[in-house]
Order: sequence, then structure tokens, then C-alpha cells
Amino acid sequence: MRRTVDWADGAIVIVDQVALPGEYRTLVLRTVTELVDAIQRLAVRGAPALGAAGALGVALAAYQGGDVRAEADRIAHARPTAVNLAWGVQRALAQLPHGADAVLAEARAMLDEDEQRNRTASAHAAELVLDACQRRPLRLLSHCNTGHLATVAWGTALGVVWHLHARGLVESVLVDETRPLLQGSRLTAWELEQAGVPYRVQPDGAAAAAMARGLVDCVLVGADRIAANGDVANKIGTYGLAIAAAHHGVPFVVVAPTSTVDKTIATGSDIAIEERAAAELTEFGGTQIAPDGAAAFNPAFDVTPAKLITAVVTENGVYR
Ligand code: MRU
Repeated sequence: MRRTVDWADGAIVIVDQVALPGEYRTLVLRTVTELVDAIQRLAVRGAPALGAAGALGVALAAYQGGDVRAEADRIAHARPTAVNLAWGVQRALAQLPHGADAVLAEARAMLDEDEQRNRTASAHAAELVLDACQRRPLRLLSHCNTGHLATVAWGTALGVVWHLHARGLVESVLVDETRPLLQGSRLTAWELEQAGVPYRVQPDGAAAAAMARGLVDCVLVGADRIAANGDVANKIGTYGLAIAAAHHGVPFVVVAPTSTVDKTIATGSDIAIEERAAAELTEFGGTQIAPDGAAAFNPAFDVTPAKLITAVVTENGVYR
């Protein structure tokens, strides 16, 4: 699979996640405005992928001249919750005094690091899962998309599935569809299909029932921002999953690169949570499904308190 975010011929090239699973195609982004639009439409999404896209966006702005810092600010604020976006922008921007080539070199180095960090973090997490769960092969539960498509390559929580599947240790994955934008049924299911891993898509509301029936050995999720106290912001529905997992004694493991840790934020209650348009709920596939004028509560993320999390795993190791 090609890199989800890359640089070619003076432009950013992304795998278009809005087109999947129907079509696997790339989009070429030549301006900061095109990049910001792609981020806001979720054509590129997932915390580590956003970090890479943010860094390459600064390179784009640096080659185009003008007020690079203002452009960098526009990219960093395209979405508020995943700290990786601002992290990627800041790290690339630090090279601006050395010129546009230095900015691009830094961004490219970050792309290379991303895959390595994800492989390492998910390998640590795979060992933790094997320690925490007795049953073989394993039945895992995934929320949102945390695979190749959410990163430059490989993935975080879904990266654990790749490691375990390579060792013949995965029976199947229950894939939360992930309302309302269906990152689970559109993207995670597509990745598992490509990799030949058995899976079933389920409505988000079925997750607690699956645990009650004893169908889940471990829940694996990613993160968009991890506060200093270990609270985790991730896709809406993660908090409910953690409560259900704690109730049923199912290990709940968060896998993320250290670029997702934000030590400037003391607790999860200080994390800014993106709220998205009502139409994502009141319409389905372009058809209105709620009454005219229906109001909506549509937070894209929630915060899971550290006490509900078995462990947060990064490339540096396991934090219980
Ligand atoms: O709104 P999205 O699709 O960008 O949300 C993504 C998630 O919540 C992921 O779980 C998170 O970014 C971790 S991806 C490795």
C-alpha cells in the first residue's frame, strides 16, 4: 500500500479517504487552501496522518512564499483535537530560517519516522495484548480507523492486528462502523479485507452487547491527544467503549506515537473537542433523514479517563 501522505513534484499527494472503499485514488494538493479543505472534509484524517500533512503543508507554503507563518497557523487550526497537526506544523516551521528545502527535508524525515514509530508502538502493544489475554486466536474490537490510512503507513491500534495476524494469532476483528462518518465500515473494513484478516462490521451500539456475550478479548483504539495525566481524546464512542470494557473486564488498550502526547494539557477536560456540522447526522448519503430543522449534537471526539484504560502504548513502551 502506498503512503497515505506523501510529497511529489512540488505538491502533497494524499490517498483520498472520502472516495474509499469505492475507489482507491490519490489527490494532489498544490495550495494551503486545498490542504485545509482536504483536512476539514476528512480526505486526509487520523492523528498521525494529520501531523505529516501539516508538516508538508508548511513546506508547500515555504516554496510559495508570502506569509508562511500565517499559512502555517491556518493549517494548524484546520481541526482542533488531534495535537499531531499542530505538532507537525511547528516542527516543520522551526526549519523555516534555513529555507524551504530545509522545511521539506524535516517534513520528509517526519514521514519516515511515522512508520517506524507506529511499527514499534504496535509491536509493544501486541506483546501486552498477548500477556493480558489468554484466549488464542484472539477476537479484537476496533473503533474508527487506526490503520495505514490514519498514519503515513502501517497504523497504530490496527498495526497491532497486523503484527498478531502475521503470527496467526487473530481469529477476527469486530469493526465498529463509527458513526457518523463511518471510518470503521468504510476504511478499517477495507484495510482488513486487503490484508485478509477476518472481520465483521457492527453498529457502534452493539459493542457492549458483544462484550456481554464474551465475544471480545481486547479493545484496541488510537488517540488524537493524550493529556499529561493519561486521559485520552479519541473518536466519539471511545469513552462508552471503555466503560463497557471496564464493566466486562475486557482489556482496553490505546496505541499512539509520542507525537500524540500533549504534556501541556493537564487533564482530558482541557482538550478542545471538535464539533461538526449537523448535516453529518441529519442526512445520510445526501438524503435528509431527520425532520426539517432538526438540531444535532455532533462532537467528533470524546475523552476517556485514564482510570478506564488498561495501558497507553507508544514507541517508548507501555504506560499502565
Ligand atoms: O475524525 P478522524 O477520522 O480524524 O478521527 C480519527 C480518530 O479518532 C483515530 O482514532 C485517531 O486519530 C487515531 S489514528 C491512528
